[in-house]
Amino acid sequence: MFAMKAPNADLPRVERVAQEPLARGPSLSLRYPELRDAPALFALATDPEVTRFFSWGPYEDPRETLAWLGTLPQRRARGIALELAVVDEADQPIGITLLSEIGRRDRRAIVGTWLGRAYWGTRANRETKALMAHLAFGRLELDRLGAYADVLNTRSQAALERLGFKREGVLHAFHRHYDTPRDVALYALLRRDWERGELARVPAQLGGSLPDALTKPVVPTLDGLSWLLKD
Ligand SMILES: CC(C)(COP(=O)(O)OP(=O)(O)OC[C@H]1O[C@@H](n2cnc3c(N)ncnc32)[C@H](O)[C@@H]1OP(=O)(O)O)[C@@H](O)C(=O)NCCC(=O)NCCS
Repeated sequence: MFAMKAPNADLPRVERVAQEPLARGPSLSLRYPELRDAPALFALATDPEVTRFFSWGPYEDPRETLAWLGTLPQRRARGIALELAVVDEADQPIGITLLSEIGRRDRRAIVGTWLGRAYWGTRANRETKALMAHLAFGRLELDRLGAYADVLNTRSQAALERLGFKREGVLHAFHRHYDTPRDVALYALLRRDWERGELARVPAQLGGSLPDALTKPVVPTLDGLSWLLKD
């Protein structure tokens, strides 16, 4: 008989110990969310203004935040998404930023961000996007960073445009918001525009460790054949 293994036994767990940030800027850092962040993230996203254009929230029960945190290790181990806490100088979360729809062959991903209401209009979004762009273009060697914004989310669209993202069009009935299909504006920042733009000038120190699914080669190599060719 084979011993039964729990289906996700090899996957990393939600971080419980202090870790080196993946990106550190002048006043903010990006790091993997930890269980101890749950109360802060819960408090930030109980505000209906923050989650107004999302398919989730506002949070009503702290267990919702914990349940979401529990999904993150699998999502990043499988290269599905890279969700990061945006933390201040005291290592306190002020919001979340993420890469999703990561297409390594085509070197592209979608970036998204939500910040607690108190941090809107403070340039925190600029620093967050600058750090994400350094990670995406510098470390993950992507060529294209896309972003979605609900057509009614004029603030998010203005914020993307002032950071150099170009509007490419509207995706109709693209996002389901509870029971309603929503139209979404598509934006993108290309590597060449990032290199020339202001976001690349924001100092960023990159560190920490990224999941193999986002860094190992995407094309098959002959390295894996050596054990087959023995004898
Ligand atoms: C989207 C978000 C991260 C942007 O961060 P922010 O700090 O609010 O953005 P900024 O203040 O840098 O930029 C917002 C811009 O919109 C402008 N603006 C503010 N309210 C606006 C409105 N109702 N309509 C149009 N523009 C508006 C601001 O004046 C500013 O432009 P300016 O700097 O040229 O003056 C933040 O608002 C947020 O977390 N929102 C909730 C979550 C969300 O919707 N995320 C986006 C998912 S697509």
